[in-house]
Amino acid sequence: MREPNATIAAWADHVPAGVRVLDVAAGGGRHAQLFGARGCAVTAVDRDVAALRALAAPSLEILEADLENAPWPLPDRRFDAIVVVDYLWRPLLPTLAASLAPGGLLLYETFAAGNERFGRPRNPEFLLHDGELCDFAATHGLEVLDYRSGAVGEPPRAVRQRLLARRPLTDRDAARCADL
Ligand SMILES: C[S@@+](CC[C@H](N)C(=O)[O-])C[C@H]1O[C@@H](n2cnc3c(N)ncnc32)[C@H](O)[C@@H]1O
Repeated sequence: MREPNATIAAWADHVPAGVRVLDVAAGGGRHAQLFGARGCAVTAVDRDVAALRALAAPSLEILEADLENAPWPLPDRRFDAIVVVDYLWRPLLPTLAASLAPGGLLLYETFAAGNERFGRPRNPEFLLHDGELCDFAATHGLEVLDYRSGAVGEPPRAVRQRLLARRPLTDRDAARCADL
């Protein structure tokens, strides 16, 4: 099992124990395991769930779904935290924002423009634009708790963007965020 992404591990303390967590494009389940070990009720979605099934974690809900060519598999569900790492499908972003419960957190990190200098992904479709996650948060009334963007590693080996954002508890809070 790969180590969890360092940013997600650092932010994990913001997610209360025992809450509902969605791991989008969960891959081998390293973040599903991270939050499962913290007593969270984790739902992991991926189009290839073989590695998730191999985890044999009875409390883990595994959903096999193509997030790009099929309807969203969790239309009536809300989550207290949503984790996305190394995956970008822009049409899904509004759905992720809408799937956050009031007070829910979005923990997102993936590659950004400029990464093509270092390696894959190079396709702009899979690289965030400058400030894109911040703009996304503003558009959907999410409060930005942490945001970083730029080259990572010494010497630099990738360009990444990361966002920790919260859905406000009430519409009034959302309006206040939009005014900031
Ligand atoms: C680079 S891996 C990241 C996995 C995981 N988030 C992590 O950080 O370890 C990208 C994941 O996206 C999944 N994926 C790619 N396209 C998908 C799609 N259309 N629907 C669902 N999952 C998809 C892949 O199966 C893969 O597990």
